[in-house]
Amino acid sequence: MPNVVIVGAQWGDEGKGKVVDRYARQAELVVRFQGGNNAGHTLVVGGETTVLHLVPSGVLNEGTLGIIGPGVVIDPLVLLEELELLAERGLHLGPEQLRISHAAQVIMPWNKALDLLREAHRGKAAIGTTGRGIGPTYEDRASRQGIRMGELLHPEHFRARVARRLGEVNPHLVGLGGEALEAEAIIGPYLAAAERLRAMVTDTGALLDERKRAGARILFEGAQGTLLDVDHGTYPFVTSSNCVAGHAAAGSGVGPKAIDEVIGISKAYTTRVGAGPFPTELEGALGDRLREAGSEYGATTGRPRRCGWLDLPALRYAVRVNGLTGIALTKLDVLGGFEEVKVCTAYELEGERFEVLPLARWGWEKATPILQTVEGWPASVAQVRSFDDLPAGARAYVESIEEWTGVPVVLVSVGADRAATIVRKDPFAS
Ligand code: IMP
Repeated sequence: MPNVVIVGAQWGDEGKGKVVDRYARQAELVVRFQGGNNAGHTLVVGGETTVLHLVPSGVLNEGTLGIIGPGVVIDPLVLLEELELLAERGLHLGPEQLRISHAAQVIMPWNKALDLLREAHRGKAAIGTTGRGIGPTYEDRASRQGIRMGELLHPEHFRARVARRLGEVNPHLVGLGGEALEAEAIIGPYLAAAERLRAMVTDTGALLDERKRAGARILFEGAQGTLLDVDHGTYPFVTSSNCVAGHAAAGSGVGPKAIDEVIGISKAYTTRVGAGPFPTELEGALGDRLREAGSEYGATTGRPRRCGWLDLPALRYAVRVNGLTGIALTKLDVLGGFEEVKVCTAYELEGERFEVLPLARWGWEKATPILQTVEGWPASVAQVRSFDDLPAGARAYVESIEEWTGVPVVLVSVGADRAATIVRKDPFAS
């Protein structure tokens, strides 16, 4: 029974939500293994759009159990809001549909406050975080000061932890120009949220092991993207978790042998939100056109995304650090109608040519992208449902990506809706 990992192969926002939703039909379990509500996974089913930040994207499929693993950081108030939003749409998630690891870290109000204060202090050097407290929560985990979901279920213990921690963090917040936080204002809403979530909090590692032994198929749902990985991304302009496929095991509590297939999601072009190097970025009218054509505005923060051509050295890097066995290419429809489509095939730096993003090379961000023009495709491809029906230019583009990366393109997405998908190879059938 193959288990499949889905990761972002670029800087996030590649369309993971849609692809996970598509593949989740074949999996009994869908596991989020890192990140938090910095993610915004957009699903369009029957014309209705749902943006999920914490709940695994697969849960819209009946019979799929969503798991929020120990590697995730959870804002319980945001999670509750998301559950309420889904309930309004008729999807009432209980423990049969969603389980939460007792070991997942809780995002506390001081983590959010610190995230925002630090960004304000960085000024021009700001990372452009989502302001959701992600970085400071992972810091608290690493320094063993974090509060876990399991602790939230024990009111007296939780009260004491909050009081003690506030004694440490309040002077820090005030020192940065912020306001001291009140214990009671935090404890009430967090404990109320804990009661609502109590039945879902469990040892998800044990549950995964049990279901796996019974033959269940697992889909691991990555958030953010390879180049935002804290170790393997464009540091320091990254998020604070490991987004690469290897972390699917650690962030879920299963062994590395549980993973069979690794699918990297890439747009047919590139986007980035927040600061940091982006060699193929298009500034001016062309970038604006791509942003409008692709509706490139953040699903979490609404920020306009930076847009540029497909960056093959970056994609080859993602192939390497994730061990990709397949690529799911999204938003191919957006490039339809562009008179000229370009791709970056290599970088040039100080007379040297790089086929793979040379992150170890000091000053790599000053590399010049070498662009190749490819044949465009005039008509909209949004209605196409079979690879052979795509215009010749679009087909050639997909096949070139396979040649350039050495990895098969197993799925092509030509629109936001669930139905606007061309499946070329089923990773669960491997
Ligand atoms: P943080 O994860 O909020 O700390 O933000 C760190 C960097 O990662 C910023 O550049 C964010 O814009 C980026 N980022 C975080 N989550 C996402 C995501 O889900 N999609 C795209 N970019 C993200």
